[in-house]
Amino acid sequence: MKTMKTKVGIVGAGPAGLLLSHLLHLAGISSIVLESRSRAYVEQRVRAGVLEQGTVDLLTQSGLGDRLHREGLRHHGIELRFGGQGHRIDMTALTGGRAIVVYGQQEVVKDLIAARVAADGALHFGVSDLAVHDIDSSSPFIRCQHDGDDLTVRCDIIAGCDGFHGVCRDAIPPGILKVFERTYPFAWLGILAKARPTHEELIYAYHERGFALYSMRSPEITRLYLQVPPDEDISNWPDDRIWTELRTRLETDDGWKLEEGPVLEKGITGMRSFVAEPMQFGRLVLAGDAAHIVPPTGAKGMNLAIADVRVLAHALTRYFGDGRNDLLAAYSQTCLKRIWRAEHFSWWMTSMLHIFPGDDTFGGRLQRSQLDYVVRSTAACTSLAENYVGLPFADP
Ligand code: FAD
Ligand code: DHB
Repeated sequence: MKTMKTKVGIVGAGPAGLLLSHLLHLAGISSIVLESRSRAYVEQRVRAGVLEQGTVDLLTQSGLGDRLHREGLRHHGIELRFGGQGHRIDMTALTGGRAIVVYGQQEVVKDLIAARVAADGALHFGVSDLAVHDIDSSSPFIRCQHDGDDLTVRCDIIAGCDGFHGVCRDAIPPGILKVFERTYPFAWLGILAKARPTHEELIYAYHERGFALYSMRSPEITRLYLQVPPDEDISNWPDDRIWTELRTRLETDDGWKLEEGPVLEKGITGMRSFVAEPMQFGRLVLAGDAAHIVPPTGAKGMNLAIADVRVLAHALTRYFGDGRNDLLAAYSQTCLKRIWRAEHFSWWMTSMLHIFPGDDTFGGRLQRSQLDYVVRSTAACTSLAENYVGLPFADP
């Protein structure tokens, strides 16, 4: 039986938990991170890839920008493709100079872990049976199994950064949380392929057979996604079928061809919109996917997790530094403004670009009209661009 003490006990070593631990360290506040998976697993897990301008700025300002600026791919536009033609949206021109950086989530996670390890940060991987206790008292604690021993972490605040399937959200007593939710009648099949990108920017394609997304990770690696049925089994998708479908949905009338190569990784992700309010109760605060989920079409999931943590780290710095409770008390309310904007944008992009099974022909005509409008109207594409690159952070 081992007991440790710290200011903030953090559950989960995803982008939210790790960045919180790093920002708290920079502010001189101790934390312990408890993660159920191994370090190798979280560093290999392939997920999101688009960093908003504000995310890049925050990572850079907190000393995490070296590899990100060396290896990340800065993009100034995206393409919407439909009716066999591409239409570029010049995000940088439309947003007064803002852009995105394509840099895999697992690279952000590797950089964060390296920074925490270099600072002798307390990261415990491979914990099990984790539960949070006494969250409505002034001395909450976390209990779990680690290295075959009972581990208790006593702290002032518990940060639930344990993703959508974590345990922290469910520790809030019944009747406190209000949940807003929508599921979609499709999923995304994603692959990572050893194939040279043949287009410099991301392509979001609307096609009668379903949505497709063309993205990348490096000058040698392409990342591609296909809309598939929601309960699809990956074994129905041998590589040949994936490439045929990608070619059909992505290739244009003017002869643009997809470069193919060995598939390094593939998986299917369900699509959902979800928000739990409020994101705090007593001494427990939730951040990232533990509190909210967006469908991936707007590339907002990881960016939102990082935006939550920015607000939380600032509130905790004030709380521990000069005993100010007001920012911490307002944490959920502050974050929810940005979260609901991203929820709307992700739902809107998803609705515009996917084929809804059973939808009537009216729905399809509305989508085409919306796409035509977005690529022709400066007002409409400015709205897309400013949401996509990420609206500026509000003052903390
Ligand atoms: P997570 O990254 O989920 O981290 C939570 C951590 O908590 C995990 O490491 C988990 O192992 C750990 N944990 C969970 N339960 C416990 C427990 N009981 N005890 C201890 N540790 C625990 N977003 C996009 O924008 N584009 C994409 O293409 C995209 N693809 C995705 C694919 C998948 C399969 C998933 C699940 C998400 C995807 N997302 C995508 C969303 C994006 O990756 C998330 O929004 C982001 O990971 C949120 O970070 P987080 O730190 O809040 O949560
Ligand atoms: C990627 C994922 C997204 O959800 C998205 O909208 C754009 C790009 C990616 O993994 O590269």
